[in-house]
Amino acid sequence: MKNYDFPAGFLWGAATSSHQVEGGNKNDWTEWEASGHIKNRQRSGQAADHWRRFEQDFDLLSELNLNAYRLSIEWSRVEPAPGQFDEKAIDHYRQMLAALEARGIEPVVTLHHFTNPLWASDWTDPAIVKHFTRYVRQMVKALGQPVHWWCTINEPNILVSMGYLQGKWPPGHKSLLAAWRARRHLVNAHRQAYAAIHEIYENHGWPTPAVSMAYNLQYFEPASASPLDKLAALVAHYFTNRSVLTKTLGSLDFIGLNYYFANRVSLIPPRLAGGLDEVNGQRLPHTDLGWTVYPQGLYHVLNWLKGFDLPVMITENGLADARDTLRAQFIVDHLREVSRAISEGADVRGYLHWSLIDNFEWLDGYDGQFGLVAVDFKTQERSIRDSAKVYGRIAAQNSLDDAGERP
Ligand code: BGC
Repeated sequence: MKNYDFPAGFLWGAATSSHQVEGGNKNDWTEWEASGHIKNRQRSGQAADHWRRFEQDFDLLSELNLNAYRLSIEWSRVEPAPGQFDEKAIDHYRQMLAALEARGIEPVVTLHHFTNPLWASDWTDPAIVKHFTRYVRQMVKALGQPVHWWCTINEPNILVSMGYLQGKWPPGHKSLLAAWRARRHLVNAHRQAYAAIHEIYENHGWPTPAVSMAYNLQYFEPASASPLDKLAALVAHYFTNRSVLTKTLGSLDFIGLNYYFANRVSLIPPRLAGGLDEVNGQRLPHTDLGWTVYPQGLYHVLNWLKGFDLPVMITENGLADARDTLRAQFIVDHLREVSRAISEGADVRGYLHWSLIDNFEWLDGYDGQFGLVAVDFKTQERSIRDSAKVYGRIAAQNSLDDAGERP
């Protein structure tokens, strides 16, 4: 294998989530938007109208030589009232999966990506575990066979921190107890969903699926060699990366990894996030949302994950870059780190860039443009960014070699 070749069968793809792209949803986030919590009082509204334009969007995947797509099911759409499932909505997702299959694109399906139906909108409520598991069972029975890769819940740590500790996302709790409860229920919901998915596949005689959460995992570097700063890094690593992941071990067939953040942390002064702005006196690039770009952090996270002895799927990695000045280099540099980790024994099965199309970026509304493909939200017109073409060529070659691919 050449230095920058990827393993045969590597999945090259892009990711989205229902609320961010579909349009026309009614859930806890639309309420949150209506009450003015989003930058400049923006609302998700029609989003990228993916609900109606999915065929066109899947053609974009093909045009970019991508062979995988991560999408999520909108719980509020398929179960608008407790126990009442909307067959038309379920059938729509069935059609989406069929449209992917027709193009030879492997689906990676997320069952919960931050949004909740209004009738089950608080993860501190223990009943939500039962509700979620019922919904999962219905979806898996209805959609199951063509799907091998399932993500039960997206980024539980971010959901807990934003919605239950900091109160910036719905349901707006700001308490340690609420955060503790929500985390516990998310972990239990995952475990039950994991068991349910496997049971349903087995009963139907379908090939064994691969199930994980999609974890937001970050790199933490101590600000100095002092034992106090090293302790700070361990603490931050524990709470952000380890705590949920280790509680779900035993109910994981792979590890879904969303990588965005690298941090330089210290105990004195206390700083447990951010801080990695420059390396060796060189300022790191900053994205439109002010996040720093540090691809080596992905390598460190992949190295750490080797210890769990499970395959890894990079379920998200990307940046807000409306003018597309950083994206091509970002992709090449991150893939170089992935390839380095693979050559040192990391079992990485695929890379799904966030995101296929510009979309509704939570509190930042339409100000964070993460798309390989730009969307004009007035006309819904799509245009492929140049960086996407670079990514598409890498995918076609299954290799970063001839870094002619370097922008
Ligand atoms: C989330 C996406 C989000 C992206 C960029 C991830 O944490 O899963 O929904 O759009 O980051 O912020």
